[in-house]
Amino acid sequence: MRVGMPLTKFLLEEQRRLPHSTGNFTGLFSDLLVAAKIISREVNKAGLINILGEAGYSNVQGEEVQKLDEYAHSAIVKTMEHGGHLSGMASEENKGVIKIPDNYPRGGYLLLFDPLDGSSNIDVNISIGTIFSIIRKDSAGETEEKDFLKAGKEQVCAGYIIYGSSTMLVYTTGFGVHGFTLDPSVGEFLLSHENIRMPEKGKIYSINEGNTKNWFPGTQRYIEAVKENGYSARYVGSLVADFHRNLLKGGIFLYPSDRKNAEGKLRLLYEANPLAFIVEQAGGRASTGKERTLEIKPRKLHQRTSLIIGSRADVEEAEKFWREEKAAL
Ligand code: AHG
Ligand code: MN
Ligand code: MN
Repeated sequence: MRVGMPLTKFLLEEQRRLPHSTGNFTGLFSDLLVAAKIISREVNKAGLINILGEAGYSNVQGEEVQKLDEYAHSAIVKTMEHGGHLSGMASEENKGVIKIPDNYPRGGYLLLFDPLDGSSNIDVNISIGTIFSIIRKDSAGETEEKDFLKAGKEQVCAGYIIYGSSTMLVYTTGFGVHGFTLDPSVGEFLLSHENIRMPEKGKIYSINEGNTKNWFPGTQRYIEAVKENGYSARYVGSLVADFHRNLLKGGIFLYPSDRKNAEGKLRLLYEANPLAFIVEQAGGRASTGKERTLEIKPRKLHQRTSLIIGSRADVEEAEKFWREEKAAL
């Protein structure tokens, strides 16, 4: 067991396992850890300083931007842009592609992120998070939107940082899922959850039941069935927090498309794909109800998607209801 090992050391060990590794990825990840620590510090003191509250305008998704969203967004951009490992970034809080300034070196990777997930929970002391996804840039030349439009199965790395009762970072590079807890006294993420495996089947369902009137019949019937089977409801409205709990305890999270949100609510590139990569690596499953999330070929940066994610047997069971619904149409 390597419990207690600092993440920086863990990354170097992982790097040595890959014979042709250049260390670029490890460098990129180390930069990201700095951003994570900066955001964690700010989230923890958010109650103390005047950074709470709304910034007074909407983001590209038409939602109110909160000050901490902006802070997290720019902390990541500023920390990552000069490392030399990236050729561009895309953020939920930015309309277009974020280019690397001309005077900085470029690298072979692209970073996509949701700087602050669960922003409606910022000022009520409920866990929030940062979600990230790293892909390779395939073509040479200027970075454009199309460089980011890769199916989720092509991700090199995905992870999230959850700012909860402690700050944790959970990530995968396709060799299992590992969790690290930030020890604030030394400022290091230490290995706390090696090779996380998700229970095959859970007893928890997470969905916003306030949307019941907009649900399609398949969703309606599936939720009735889980209740019938004695499942418990757990939903805080921070995807990272709801996902993290289900990852460790087992269960299913659903934000399906419905009569109001024909494409679903969550974003494919910043939320669904990274968590789908993690869930699969932990033995779980993610789908739209009809299609494996990681197979979707994105059409645009801020694309939304229906998301059903969690324990494998639970998601497969839900998919049956979606298939029946399709057959009934
Ligand atoms: P974000 O704060 O990045 O905009 O994401 C909010 C998301 C996600 O965290 C959560 O699962 C979901 O929105 C909650 O939506 P509802 O309030 O519609 O349930
Ligand atoms: Mn989000
Ligand atoms: Mn967000």
